[in-house]
Amino acid sequence: MEVVILRDARDVGRVAAGAIARLVRSTPDAVLGLATGSSPLPVYDELARLHAQEGLDFSRASGFALDEYVGLPEGHPQSYREVIRREFTDRVDIEPSRVHSPDGSAEDIEGACAAYEEAIAAAGGVDLQILGIGSDGHIGFNEPGSSLASRTRIKTLTEQTRRDNARFFPSIAEVPHHVVTQGVGTIMDARHVVLVATGARKAEAVHGLVEGPVTAMCVASVLQFHPHTTVIVDSAAASVLR
Ligand code: F6R
Repeated sequence: MEVVILRDARDVGRVAAGAIARLVRSTPDAVLGLATGSSPLPVYDELARLHAQEGLDFSRASGFALDEYVGLPEGHPQSYREVIRREFTDRVDIEPSRVHSPDGSAEDIEGACAAYEEAIAAAGGVDLQILGIGSDGHIGFNEPGSSLASRTRIKTLTEQTRRDNARFFPSIAEVPHHVVTQGVGTIMDARHVVLVATGARKAEAVHGLVEGPVTAMCVASVLQFHPHTTVIVDSAAASVLR
């Protein structure tokens, strides 16, 4: 695990986007794993800038979102499919039909999860997975106690995560209780994981990720077993590291 400590969120976004840009230049048909939440927004801003100003070409790339809320109507502005469209797909030249999300409104959620795993495998697996980290150490929405071998499935959000995500909704009552998320095992299959974290609120989780014991109580710590993980944090998120 490589840990890069930078000054602020903008630098974190720039360095993480640089890793993605290098991949897309060397492997134009790269498969990207796409996260949502606040942490990757500066990464998408920088990718949009690289596309507009330097012609970074995503026309042959594809993408798989990490997760999706269950129960939000199609087109809801906070559905992760919409967030990824707004923050990434619409701002570069990636083909929208090659950007996939788990189906949080499927009648047969289990079947949809299995189909999502199959689609990732059929695309050749994820080359680079962008990740954020929850204040409780979750990756994707694999909350504390998740199986470290899990695959895409439905999960219940903890109250802490619902509170953390309430800032995106008019009130906490509107934050869904369930999500469909790639499993920990699914994330661990990505060839390169780039995890970004900023702000003091993430410092304990980053400590658990980098220095803690590997434990399902801080799911991100399993990345210590991943052969190629780059953790990019600002100094506030790194403040509890030894
Ligand atoms: C989002 C996701 C989550 C977030 C995490 C941090 O697709 O899978 O694991 O990365 O909850 O969220 P922010 O960045 O909003 O603090």
